[in-house]
Parts: sequence; C-alpha cells; structure tokens
Amino acid sequence: MKNNCLMLVLALAGFLGIAAQTASHTSDARSSRTASARSLADSVKKDPETGLAIDPQLMLVKGQCTACHSSKLILQSRFSRDKWIERIRWMQRTQKLWDLGESEPIILDYLVKYYGPATGSFDGRREPLQSIKWYKLESSR
Ligand code: HEC
Repeated sequence: MKNNCLMLVLALAGFLGIAAQTASHTSDARSSRTASARSLADSVKKDPETGLAIDPQLMLVKGQCTACHSSKLILQSRFSRDKWIERIRWMQRTQKLWDLGESEPIILDYLVKYYGPATGSFDGRREPLQSIKWYKLESSR
C-alpha cells in the first residue's frame, strides 16, 4: 500500500513535469511569433502607473485618455491615424469625450507613434535592427 502511494506520487510528479514543459514550450513559441509584430512601444520605457510609453507627451495623453477608462484599452490597440481619429470621434459622439482642441493632433501623434499599426511601413516584416554588434571574423589558420 505504501509503495502504491509512492508510485502514484512519482507518476503524478512526472506528469506535472511534462505538462509544465509543454506549457512553457508553447508560450515560448507564442512569444517568438508575436516578436515579429513589435512596435516602437515595445522598445521604450513604460510609465509604471499606466504602462503607456514614456514620452514628453505622456502627461497630456494620460490626463486626457485615462480619465474614463484604463490605459489597457489604448495598450491593446494598434490603429492608423485615421482609425484613431475615428475612435476619438466615436467616443465624442457616444461616450461624452470632450473636444480635445489643440491637444488632439499632439495626442494623435503620440498614439500613432507608439500604438500605430505594428507592422508600420515594413509590410509585416520585422523592424530594422537597432543596435547591431558586429564582430570580427578570426581567420582560422
Ligand atoms: C469621457 C470618457 C472617455 C475619455 C476621456 C476617453 N475615453 Fe476612450 N472610451 C470611453 C468609453 C466609455 C469606451 C468604451 C469602453 C468599453 O467598451 O468598455 C472607450 C473606449 C476606448 C477604446 C477602445 C475602443 C475600441 O473600439 O477598441 C480606446 C482605444 C480608447 N477608448 C482610447 C481613448 C483615448 C486614446 C483617449 C484619449 C484621447 C480616450 N479613450 C479618452 C470613454 C472615454
């Protein structure tokens, strides 16, 4: 009886080990797939409070765009300028968002810069490499 119990525990441990391995494997695959869809927001520092990209316009955007809802709605979006305008008009029409006045083009610049279409002008290809460390090939004598 004691032995059976031990076997069961070992089998369970083995199973959990395999489950954990496959789980971490699939999440690896997923993160490498999304890596090709990176945007500028991935490579800049984030505001710890909202997760929004740190930028000279952060406070403006934070003040105007996180008053009613979580910044997550922005973080999960990737819109072109036209689509951002459309979203803002929709919020103004149906959600009582105020007229953004002179701030609007500044906010739009920020939104498109960091939360624009992830592929940008690169048509689904990865972004150009930023910091390449070249190394010298040693000739093998
Ligand atoms: C007056 C309140 C208010 C303000 C201010 C506001 N929003 Fe919204 N926004 C809303 C509401 C309400 C929704 C709908 C939320 C939901 O669906 O749960 C929304 C939804 C959104 C969505 C999701 C829309 C979609 O269809 O995916 C985005 C993105 C968004 N807002 C961005 C912004 C940005 C950027 C700003 C700053 C310019 C902003 N919001 C300011 C009220 C506001």
